[in-house]
Formats: sequence, structure tokens, C-alpha cells
Amino acid sequence: MSNLTEQISKRRTFAIISHPDAGKTTLTEKLLLYGGAINLAGSVKGKKTARHAVSDWMEIEKQRGISVTSSVLQFRYDGYCINILDTPGHQDFSEDTYRTLMAADSAVMVIDASKGVENQTKKLFKVCVMRHIPIITFINKMDRDAMNPFDLLDDIENVLGINTCPMNWPLGSGKEFKGVYDRQSRQILSYTANNGQREVETEVLLLDDPDLDSKLFYGQRDALFDDIDLLDGAGNEFDLDMVRRGELTPVFFGSALTNFGVEPFLRDFLQITTPPLPREANEEAIEPDADFFSAFVFKIQANMNRAHRDRVAFMRICSGVFDKNMEVYHVQGNRRMKLSQPQQMMAQEREVVDTAYAGDIIGVFDPGVFSIGDTIVSVGQKFAFRGIPTFAPEHFSLVRQKDTMKRKQFVKGMNQIAQEGAIQIFHEPESGMEEVIVGVVGELQFDVLQYRLENEYNVEIIMTPTPYQFIRWITSDVDYKSLDLASDTKVVADFKENKLLLFRSEWSIDWALEHNRELTLQDFGTAE
Ligand code: G4P
Repeated sequence: MSNLTEQISKRRTFAIISHPDAGKTTLTEKLLLYGGAINLAGSVKGKKTARHAVSDWMEIEKQRGISVTSSVLQFRYDGYCINILDTPGHQDFSEDTYRTLMAADSAVMVIDASKGVENQTKKLFKVCVMRHIPIITFINKMDRDAMNPFDLLDDIENVLGINTCPMNWPLGSGKEFKGVYDRQSRQILSYTANNGQREVETEVLLLDDPDLDSKLFYGQRDALFDDIDLLDGAGNEFDLDMVRRGELTPVFFGSALTNFGVEPFLRDFLQITTPPLPREANEEAIEPDADFFSAFVFKIQANMNRAHRDRVAFMRICSGVFDKNMEVYHVQGNRRMKLSQPQQMMAQEREVVDTAYAGDIIGVFDPGVFSIGDTIVSVGQKFAFRGIPTFAPEHFSLVRQKDTMKRKQFVKGMNQIAQEGAIQIFHEPESGMEEVIVGVVGELQFDVLQYRLENEYNVEIIMTPTPYQFIRWITSDVDYKSLDLASDTKVVADFKENKLLLFRSEWSIDWALEHNRELTLQDFGTAE
């Protein structure tokens, strides 16, 4: 095996999704702990007051206690090089999540055992399904009183519509949580609470142990035998191909906070998931071990570190090797360049990367040339990866700056935040940014916009909500001036001067289509 092939075979790149508070951050921290990437004494409890989770960067996230932007972390474990992409849990950021999932090869879905599938999990799950990637479920907080495990599986199957296959099975929950039964080895991993330290005390118990009853809580042995019969008889069989197509989710029970079941989960996860797979570009599939470098930008973030006033483009490497001194070709910009200040995130630290391989995520300094979805390749290559679609925003506000003297900062801030994909900006066709309409997928993004303009660009804005609810890209070749539109429909343009229509109701969309036979509309924009 060549060094490149070997490096790639050891790589796993996954996103972690959950409803807020299900334990995504805690699980991420525990995984990093196993990789030795961070050293935490004691448990993460109390982090909201004492210390913030390693993947929360922005001030607003800290204030609100939610993950607004996604972050990327890398760690090593057992010879593997693992990239975790954290995703915002809040529903208003599902577009950011979608882009992050474009960079991932699989997803871990964290579910709170006392709550089952929650609203936001549904939305995020839908996004995973769009990508057909393997989804591995971690049912967390078994150390608290939990729903019946069969009900939890039913919930996942009924609400999310994916088949489940439990890989382990919990013995009790809350104070009586004794551990998990591993279905493959047919052994019980019994734990002793350890207050969140890395090394959990685990005792292996065998099903035919004559003293089993006395080692478990009352009734657990009989209940386990009944459950095993039911699972073996009526449950879905583990089918790796179905898992890899995203049609069956392996389910693990555990408790991230107390470290029950985290390491066995990680070990199995590494076996179930694949190394990076080929990626579709134009008409061809690009193999990860190709002899050229290729990557695409899935996230841009400005001012991650206020002290540096920088802007970082995150790219997912799809093939070959990245070397920090090499020259690359930016396909959409049609120019050669060196990627400057390449870095990877190791927990809280940014580290300069010298070499990275297909599957890895690197952040590079962006002088303002990259857009989401852009392709970067070795000099000599010219293909582009399929673009990342832009979702139709659902909320629209008119935005202008309070102090007209600050026009420059206003335009700069608005453009930069739009290039990051956090907001979309529209204007009247053939006019500049006099009156800007901002469209967002989730309303919280308006708050983020206001906050960031004030804090990063020193501009105060006035936002006036508009009654528009729907936006459609005009995809046919029609002159917008000749369109017959209802009085409540407005023509706008995006920054590429593509024309779009804003509507107050679905009724007006139908009206426009009926009165303009040559008009075709689309509810997402594509970057190409
Ligand atoms: P998130 O990133 O998905 O939003 O969740 P996060 O890890 O921040 O966890 C949310 C809360 O749940 C945290 O409590 C965390 O300690 C707790 N938690 C996570 N995993 C487990 C688990 O396995 N068992 C138990 N019992 N608790 C768990 P917190 O920071 O104290 O905040 P809060 O409890 O005041 O909300």
C-alpha cells in the first residue's frame, strides 16, 4: 500500500448532530479525551459557567449557550486520524449544517434517552438523508432516567423513518444503569461510575456467569434475557451495506458525561464507517488516492479570532496530498495561488499544517477570494466539484445603517457575512446597496447579523421586517420587466445579478406562473 493510500485508509471524517442539550459537546469532548487531544480533569459539568466547550468560538454562542457556527476538530486514536465536524444545534442554522454535512462522510446522531427524537434532530436528520451518508446513533444520558429502549428505537424508526439496529443494549437507566450488553461479543460491559475521568472501570460479565443475578440490579438479568430474545428474533439484522447507504442506523446506548460506552462506541464506529470515498465532480468521480490534490470550500468564517481580524475558508480535501508550500489552482477564480497560513484545529489550538490528506479539513487564510462551494486543485487540473446549493431564505428584512457616514464598513460587513453564507442579500435590480433586503433561513441569523455588524464592523443597523415569505430564482430566460406580476410580488437581484421574485404567499407564486407561461422558478440557488 502506498503511503497515500495508507494515510487515507486511516481517515474518518464525520459530523455530529443533535438537538441542543442532547450532549453533542460532551460526547465530542470525551472523544477528544480518548485521542489525548485535550486533558480534562473531572467532568465537563458546569462548563457553561466555568469554561466553554472547546468547539464554541463566537461570543454570541457563549452568550446564548448554543452552537451557532460549526467547528472542526481533529484527533488521533488507535492509528486513525479522525476529523469531527461540529454542527450548530439550533434550527435556524440548518443551512450551515447542510454545508458541513457536505464535507462529512458520515454522521453521528446524539439523542437524549429521556426525550427521544426531538424537533431539531428531525431537521438535521433530513439533511443527512439528502446526502445518503451513514448515520450512527448514540443514545445518551443513560445515567438519567430514560425512556424504554424499545420505545426509543420505535421513535427513531417512526419519526425519522430509518431502520435501527441496536449494537448494544442498556441494563437499566438512571441510578440503576448498570452498563450495556454488547450484542456482538455477547458480553455485558458493566461500569462503575467514575466521575467523568478518562479511564472508566469496566468489568466484563458473561451471560452464563452463575452469579450474574447478584452482580446486577434486581430483575435485570431476566429482563436482559427477554430483551435479547426479542432483539435476536424480531430486530433488524446488522447489514453493513444498508448502513453505508444510510438506510439502517446502528444504535449505541451510553452516557457521555460519565463515559459509559463512549470508547466501545468509538471502536465500532471506526469499523462501521469507511475512509473517504470518491467525490462527484463535473461528470467524473474523483478518487481520494488520485495523484493530484483537490478540495472544496464548505465554510467561510470571518473574524474567528478578533485579535487577528482574519477570515478563514474551510476546505475539505477530496483527493491527494496537501503540502503547505504547493501552488494550487482556484477553479472559480481562474487563478494560481498559494494557500496561506493553512491550519487545522486541534481542540482549542490552531496548528499550522504542513501536510494533510484526502478526508482532512484545513482552514486557510482567505483574502476575500473564496466563495462557498469553490474548488481548489493541483495546477494542471481544471474540474469543479458539484456546487453546494443555497436554500431559499424564509425571512426577509430591509436593512440599512444608522449612521450614513459608515457606509463603507456597512457594505464590507454585509458582503463578508453574505459570502460566508450566513445571510443572503438582495437588492432592487440595477441599483446598488442603497436598500438591502436580507434573507435568512432562520430568524436567529438576523440577531447574529446585527451583533456581528456592531461588534466586528462597528456599524449599527436598523432592520425592518418585510411581509415577504417566499423567494424563487427565475430560471427561464425572460425579461423581468415584461413579467405580469401581482402587486404584492417584488423583483430583486442577488449579488451575481440573478433575478429573483419575492412573494407574500404561495398563492402569488401560482399567480405569477399562471400569468407568465414562459416563467420557470426554482427554490434554491446553485453556486455554478
Ligand atoms: P449539546 O452540545 O448537545 O447542546 O449538549 P451538551 O454536551 O452541552 O450537554 C448538555 C447538558 O447535558 C450539559 O449539562 C451536560 O453536562 C449534560 N450531559 C451531557 N451528556 C450527559 C450524560 O451522559 N448524562 C448526564 N446526566 N448529563 C449529560 P450542563 O452543562 O450542566 O448544563 P445544564 O445541565 O445546566 O443544561
